[in-house]
Amino acid sequence: MTLPVRIVSTSLINMLTQIPANNLAYLAQARASLNVQDCMTIYDKWAATYNDEVRDEAQSYVAPVLVAQVALKSSNNPAKSVILDAGCGTGLVGQALAMAGAKAIDGLDLSPAMLTVANQTGSYRSLA
Ligand SMILES: C[S@@+](CC[C@H](N)C(=O)[O-])C[C@H]1O[C@@H](n2cnc3c(N)ncnc32)[C@H](O)[C@@H]1O
Repeated sequence: MTLPVRIVSTSLINMLTQIPANNLAYLAQARASLNVQDCMTIYDKWAATYNDEVRDEAQSYVAPVLVAQVALKSSNNPAKSVILDAGCGTGLVGQALAMAGAKAIDGLDLSPAMLTVANQTGSYRSLA
């Protein structure tokens, strides 16, 4: 039997919701990066402070919770859903998915430092 894999990413929402880039120097840099290596370097540097910055009340960063809700909306059994969190960063989406009952969450990110923080959430089945 083939299980459907749900693929989630907050990247599009981030672009559309216009997190005030002036308040987030790293986000402005990431948006301006011209290649994958530059992008990875920026997110590697940002990993240590990312959660504190995006969770600041002024940012109203609800994308991870919204993405998790959408990903599981059509699932009648979150525990049996298989989910790929593309660009998982520090794992905020994985945490929201896990809180909603998801168990098989695989995270993908180009930044090793982001993956280290995501791993600490304990929400992922695998990370790469
Ligand atoms: C704005 S952060 C969002 C992280 C997380 N999804 C969240 O909502 O907090 C974007 C993440 O995507 C990752 N990323 C950007 N381009 C990528 C690519 N081509 N492949 C994998 N990860 C990528 C970055 O390293 C970063 O961790």
